[in-house]
Amino acid sequence: MIHQLIYVSQARRPFGAEALAALLGHSRRANAAAGVTGLLIYREDPAHARGHFLQVLEGPGAGLEEIWDCVRADRRHHSILVLSETTVPARMFADWSMGFRNVDAEDLAGFEGFRDLGSDAFWARARRDGLPGAIELLRSFYEPA
Ligand SMILES: Cc1cc2nc3c(=O)[nH]c(=O)nc-3n(C[C@H](O)[C@H](O)[C@H](O)COP(=O)(O)O)c2cc1C
Repeated sequence: MIHQLIYVSQARRPFGAEALAALLGHSRRANAAAGVTGLLIYREDPAHARGHFLQVLEGPGAGLEEIWDCVRADRRHHSILVLSETTVPARMFADWSMGFRNVDAEDLAGFEGFRDLGSDAFWARARRDGLPGAIELLRSFYEPA
């Protein structure tokens, strides 16, 4: 059984290209060792100097728990809101130890509820209703090898 977790969070400070590359390098190594796959989306709102993450992590229960503990403990982001925690019959990001997309407003334009990712209205909705459709958004970026 594959466990799958999706969350959204806010970066303490916007991540530059180097910080993102370092985060991914670490994540891909650790995830591969733990049998975890997934996708990380980063969205920066330059007008407000805010960065946000949307991430899906999937893997066997023990591996996922180990990685999730690292993610949760990382003080470079906060306001971590779990959107979904479920089991799936098969991995949805099997070829990516951690895929990555740095997205802008245009990339999100087609996704109801995510166009304003990171705004106050977005967070209010996320806390009130969760964010149905997060998995469809994430999955739309997946390109199997
Ligand atoms: C948005 C975000 C996503 C992360 N994703 C992962 C991940 O997929 N896998 C992982 O092992 N760590 C992930 N982390 C955690 C950190 O990369 C890692 O725990 C941190 O660099 C500490 O590394 P250290 O073990 O060298 O102290 C994430 C952290 C953040 C802020």
